[in-house]
Amino acid sequence: MSAMTSQPGPGVPAARADSVSKVYRLGSVEVPALFDVSLSVEAGEMACITGKSGSGKSTLLRQLGLIDRPTSGHIELEGREVSGLSESRRAALRLDRLGYVFQEYALIPALTAQENVYLPALMKGQRRAACRARATELLGQVGLGDRMTHRPKELSGGEQQRVAIARALVNWPAIIFADEPTANLDSISGRTVMETLTRLNRELGVTIVFVSHDPDDRRWATRLVSLRDGRIESDERAAP
Ligand SMILES: Nc1ncnc2c1ncn2[C@@H]1O[C@H](COP(=O)(O)OP(=O)(O)OP(=O)(O)O)[C@@H](O)[C@H]1O
Ligand SMILES: [Mg+2]
Repeated sequence: MSAMTSQPGPGVPAARADSVSKVYRLGSVEVPALFDVSLSVEAGEMACITGKSGSGKSTLLRQLGLIDRPTSGHIELEGREVSGLSESRRAALRLDRLGYVFQEYALIPALTAQENVYLPALMKGQRRAACRARATELLGQVGLGDRMTHRPKELSGGEQQRVAIARALVNWPAIIFADEPTANLDSISGRTVMETLTRLNRELGVTIVFVSHDPDDRRWATRLVSLRDGRIESDERAAP
C-alpha cells in the first residue's frame, strides 16, 4: 500500500489538547468530565486512551476529534487552533482530515457496504464513479471485497466494523478516532478489527487514537494514555 495521507511538517503534532477542561451541564447540574488535560498526539502514533468507565475517555476523544468543544482550553489539529472555528469550518475539517469509528458502527441500514463507505466522499463532492472505485479498493483492503453489496444487517459485527473503518478512510484522513471499536465484538472479530487498524497505522501512516478499557488492546498501541477521574494518570510510550 502506498502512503495516503499528507502529514504536517516534522515536530507538528497531529492533534493536541492544551489545558482542556469539559463540564457538561444538565439543567442546573454541572458534571465535570475533564480537568486541565494536556496531551499531544504525534503524527504516526497509535495512541490508546484507557481508564475506568466514567474516567472521561470518550469525552477526551470527542474534544480531540472536533465532535464537541471544550469548556476551557484549546484543541490544535495539525498545528492549527481549531476550538474557536465556526461549526461549518469544523465540519469541513472533520470531513477532510478526520475519520471516525464508533463502538456501534453507525452504518446506514438502507445502504450497501459500498455506499456506506463512499458516502463521505460523495458529501465532499466527488464524482460517484470515483467514489465507487475508492470504496471498492478500501473494502478490499479491509478484507471485504466480496461483501460490497451487502447491507449492514447482512454482515457480522466484525464485518460491519471493518466497513466503518473503510468509511473512515475514504477521504484520506490524517487521523482516525475510534471509541471502543471492539467493545461489541467477540474476541476473534475484535482481533481482526485491531489488526486492520494497526496495519493502516503501520503501512499507511494514519495516526490513530483509540479508546479501550480492555487491557488486551494496549498491546496494539505505540502510546498508552491512562485517565482517572478526568485527569491523565499516566502517559507511556510502548517499546518498539
Ligand atoms: N452528555 C453528557 N452529559 C452529562 N454528563 C456526561 C455526558 N457525557 C458524559 N458525561 C459524564 O462525564 C463523565 C465522563 O464520561 P465519558 O463518557 O467520557 O466516560 P468514559 O471514560 O468514556 O466511560 P465508558 O468507559 O463508560 O465509556 C461521566 O461522569 C459521565 O457521566
Ligand atoms: Mg466511553
